[in-house]
Amino acid sequence: MQIAYYSKPLIVLLIALGITACGSSGNDSNSGDSSGSSSSSSSSSSASTSSSSSTSSSSSSGSQEPVGNTPVAQGMIVFESPMLTNGEGSRLSRFSCADCHAVNEDENGFADTSGFRLPGHSLHDALRRPTYKNGLLTDFVDAANSCLDEWMATDIVWTPDSLDYQNLRAFLTEVDSGSGDAEPLNFVIAGPELPDGVGDAERGRVTFNQTCANCHGEDGVLGNNPRGIDIRSYTPETAAIIARKVRRSGAFDSATYPEDLVGGTMPFWSQDRLGDQELLDIIAFIGETEFVPEDPDPVDPGPGNGSDCVATHPKVGQTASLSTIAHGVSGTATIVDDCTIRIDNFNYDGRGVQVEFYAGSNVGFFRESQGGFSITPDRNFLRSNPYVNETVTITLPEGTTFDDFNAISVWCVPFAADFGSGRFQ
Ligand code: HEC
Ligand code: HEC
Repeated sequence: MQIAYYSKPLIVLLIALGITACGSSGNDSNSGDSSGSSSSSSSSSSASTSSSSSTSSSSSSGSQEPVGNTPVAQGMIVFESPMLTNGEGSRLSRFSCADCHAVNEDENGFADTSGFRLPGHSLHDALRRPTYKNGLLTDFVDAANSCLDEWMATDIVWTPDSLDYQNLRAFLTEVDSGSGDAEPLNFVIAGPELPDGVGDAERGRVTFNQTCANCHGEDGVLGNNPRGIDIRSYTPETAAIIARKVRRSGAFDSATYPEDLVGGTMPFWSQDRLGDQELLDIIAFIGETEFVPEDPDPVDPGPGNGSDCVATHPKVGQTASLSTIAHGVSGTATIVDDCTIRIDNFNYDGRGVQVEFYAGSNVGFFRESQGGFSITPDRNFLRSNPYVNETVTITLPEGTTFDDFNAISVWCVPFAADFGSGRFQ
């Protein structure tokens, strides 16, 4: 039941590839990519060791564990999926841990998986910390339960024996490159009042897209955000409300935090995760933006898509129907002109790790070692919220032509996993 959210083929694939840790940079197809994660993680070396027992002996004994059932693989799913269980059934919670915490982030706080700055601190060494939540809790399981309660809107409570919890620990152990005692975190939960100062809307837009867009949509244009979190009604007059929300959001009767949290399932941002000036900038951006209501019928960008593209290539007009392998991917890709692919009725649950559109000579040939390459190298091209029958337009990168490939894939880069693909014909 808990793997309902991720399709089995993906897990089979992950295991078959010997890749066990999310966001690890240890596999060859990924080298030179995913800035900020390279070689900083121990999993680059341990991925092959830890999985060897479950993969290499494919034909030996009959008493193998079911494929995909290693604690590390299951724990990665616990970390990344909002579908959780405490042994008495599964429940969909508001978020996954990965929506708010990275296990690997760069020095500026960008998660190496989603590229966003997340509200919670990285959990890379969390199992080795002596205390949690500013010294208020001493057990990791209690800290996790606090998050389940505070923001994840689920009644799931883990005990140290809960299978999900055990698997999560296995996963976090796998991605942890350090050893020995870690330092406790110290973070300042800022006051709820609006800080003094003046914000800059343009800077705020950038910061918003790094921090809030994860849940509120790029530029705050929420019409296409299926989580339906709309902050468009906010104006400069409501600046104080935004500040209060950003600084103190969480269960208002929180059992953990002595500060008065103001209710809601949005996470608060401590001072070091989002500075006062950044908050003021974001507020200026929200206040000055005239949010455009979503166009209910996405406009066909048409040939050219604003560029000077001609439509002379013999493949113009060809289509590729995307297969469904994982994460609910489907859709039809059409070569619109010499530099544009349009994907109609695109579906994808948004839950993969660093997912890009890849091109290859044929279906099955998307790995970089096989000549596959990204045609959407901007890693934020696909957002992390679900796509439901949407239209997505890809402009080929400079220098790429339709002579260079015949097939397209929704491709998970760190795991070299095909979530759905098709050949143009
Ligand atoms: C909606 C956002 C959100 C989600 C989802 C979430 N957390 Fe948190 N978590 C926070 C915030 C905010 C804090 C407090 C600030 C911090 O420690 O980064 C926190 C703190 C923690 C801490 C304490 C860190 C420390 O050393 O003080 C742990 C451990 C933790 N979370 C684990 C988890 C786990 C495990 C999950 C998934 C079951 C999870 N969290 C889900 C937002 C979230
Ligand atoms: C992890 C997801 C997440 C992130 C990141 C996030 N929010 Fe939210 N936000 C929510 C959710 C969920 C709600 C609606 C539920 C609630 O009120 O808590 C919300 C509600 C709000 C509201 C109140 C809207 C209303 O109508 O009452 C404001 C204002 C807001 N967010 C601002 C921000 C800003 C500014 C940022 C970036 C600094 C941000 N949020 C980042 C999840 C998020």
